[in-house]
Amino acid sequence: MADITEANVGLIFGTDTGNTEEVGEKITTALAAHGVIVEMINVTDTSAEEIEGFDFIIMGIPTWDFGGIQEDWEEFEEQILATKLSGKTVALYGLGDQRGYGFYFLDAVGWLHERVLKAGASVIGYWPTKGYDFDESLALNEARTHFVGLGIDEDQQFELTDERVDAWVNQVVAEYASANAA
Ligand SMILES: Cc1cc2nc3c(=O)[nH]c(=O)nc-3n(C[C@H](O)[C@H](O)[C@H](O)COP(=O)(O)O)c2cc1C
Repeated sequence: MADITEANVGLIFGTDTGNTEEVGEKITTALAAHGVIVEMINVTDTSAEEIEGFDFIIMGIPTWDFGGIQEDWEEFEEQILATKLSGKTVALYGLGDQRGYGFYFLDAVGWLHERVLKAGASVIGYWPTKGYDFDESLALNEARTHFVGLGIDEDQQFELTDERVDAWVNQVVAEYASANAA
């Protein structure tokens, strides 16, 4: 499905305190401005079969407890691995706290990235680390220049969230078109 406005787009999120859902809503609104309709679903309410019905899947995950995986995502691990994601485009975003948990910033995004790759997805939406101040992260690409998805920090840099979401959504729309060009 080359045209993102004709694609079935799902946004699957997990959250403990609501931030990842709120950012999901911002992403959904920003995509609507591009004519893209997004179905937002809590990971507690989905299945491998439902995810396989989407062409483009955005997944949002916060990191908890020193590099821990948000618990609903952790419970969904076998299902992610069982989802047939080959031929699907996936983009990830994560919530974290770069000052409070600077050695574990956004680690869960790295965890999810490994698993969607194993399930066969093509991942777009890598995001530069410029403008963040952290010590370590398992969400970095090999060159350590980018996170493997959008990084959002509602604890330390909430004032940057809206502009980050808008810029990332523009990037993802462009990357989806090149990745799915016939
Ligand atoms: C007890 C606790 C542990 C946390 N551990 C981490 C962590 O290891 N790495 C990180 O980047 N953020 C960590 N955070 C920050 C959360 O990921 C952040 O507050 C996020 O916005 C929560 O998202 P949610 O509301 O969707 O659950 C932690 C926050 C708390 C309160």
